[in-house]
Amino acid sequence: YVGHHVRETPWWQLRRTDLLELARQQAAPSYVYDLSTVRERARRLRALSAPDRWFYALKANSHPDVLQAISEEGFGLECVSLEELGAASRLVKGGRLLFTPNFAPRAEYEAALQMGARVTLDNLHPLAHWGEAFRGRDIILRVDLGVGRGHHDKVRTGGAGSKFGLAMDEIETFRTLARQHDVHVVGLHAHLGSGILDAGHWHEVYGQLAALAQRFTRIEAINIGGGLGVPARPDEAPMDLAALDAALAEIKAAYPQFQLWMEPGRYLVAEAGVLLTQVSQTKRKGDYRYVGLTAGMNSLIRPALYDAWHEIVNLTRLEQPADTLYQVVGPICESGDVLGANRKLPACEEGDVILIAQGGAYGATMASHYNLRAPAQEIVI
Ligand code: LLP
Repeated sequence: YVGHHVRETPWWQLRRTDLLELARQQAAPSYVYDLSTVRERARRLRALSAPDRWFYALKANSHPDVLQAISEEGFGLECVSLEELGAASRLVKGGRLLFTPNFAPRAEYEAALQMGARVTLDNLHPLAHWGEAFRGRDIILRVDLGVGRGHHDKVRTGGAGSKFGLAMDEIETFRTLARQHDVHVVGLHAHLGSGILDAGHWHEVYGQLAALAQRFTRIEAINIGGGLGVPARPDEAPMDLAALDAALAEIKAAYPQFQLWMEPGRYLVAEAGVLLTQVSQTKRKGDYRYVGLTAGMNSLIRPALYDAWHEIVNLTRLEQPADTLYQVVGPICESGDVLGANRKLPACEEGDVILIAQGGAYGATMASHYNLRAPAQEIVI
């Protein structure tokens, strides 16, 4: 059984034997990235007419080769830590660097300004307490539009319970502080969450930010965030990019004075990567059958953290019927170390090569050494 989304990706055009061979050479689990897919996704986005500038949110995948490919495709880089800025600044400079942190310490903002990055503030505290650090600077203001969106509660970044963005009722105070310190708000930003498949979302965000921009005098850019989803489950439909472009063009026509910026992460890299791993053991306990993998939640935490669904395929037994119901688990000492619950696979045996799809986004970047177990290595092809 190979689901729709895997068959739609270029992985399927690769010979399966190549992946099997790769898995055999590397005893350890591996994330494998295909740079041509990364570039193809980047070009799809760059082909849209409405956005003026693209920034890649490198938290999704910060492998140096991936960053290089994406920056060569004309993307700036959106960073949230000094370490990300360090990686990004080797490839792009000045205005192509965006710094959009949350609760970062003062020194990080100072370093970002020093590097010439575009800095986004989303709280009163930096101006109220460190105003002199921003004196004379242009900054971008991130606001909370009051609602969050996305594939799971933990990735929604708007609304009362979210730590992101300046509350709308603090905007006047922010403007006053900015005036006091000779700080110029030249951009407005909102990012409501991750894994959004409804193209209408960004139209709405642009409209709200553009209306808000009327309360400022120097807004040049409207950054409507990232969050572009990639369908994971077989019943989800891919994002309609043409509809997104049309919706953005329409709302932009109403406010043509602003540049439209977007900062996707996942869309560029999710389908460009897979996690290759092998069967370590199988087990039967009561009504349950378990298949254990060499990769666990320390390599891919998304299923444990967000109940995220990643397609799982037994590459070794592709021709055999997927007639056995498994709990697909890793070797980590946590009950949550389940990479796929209730998955139908062919009867698995030790050493079988298992492919976990959509491993290119938020896989390696969120990996850990829990249990002192090394997470999957990264390989670029
Ligand atoms: N811009 C900002 C301000 C963000 O916080 C994020 C993601 C992005 C852009 C890029 O979002 P994307 O286009 O990748 O959805 N670990 C979660 C996703 C968390 C995203 C955090 N912020 C996951 O694996 O689903």
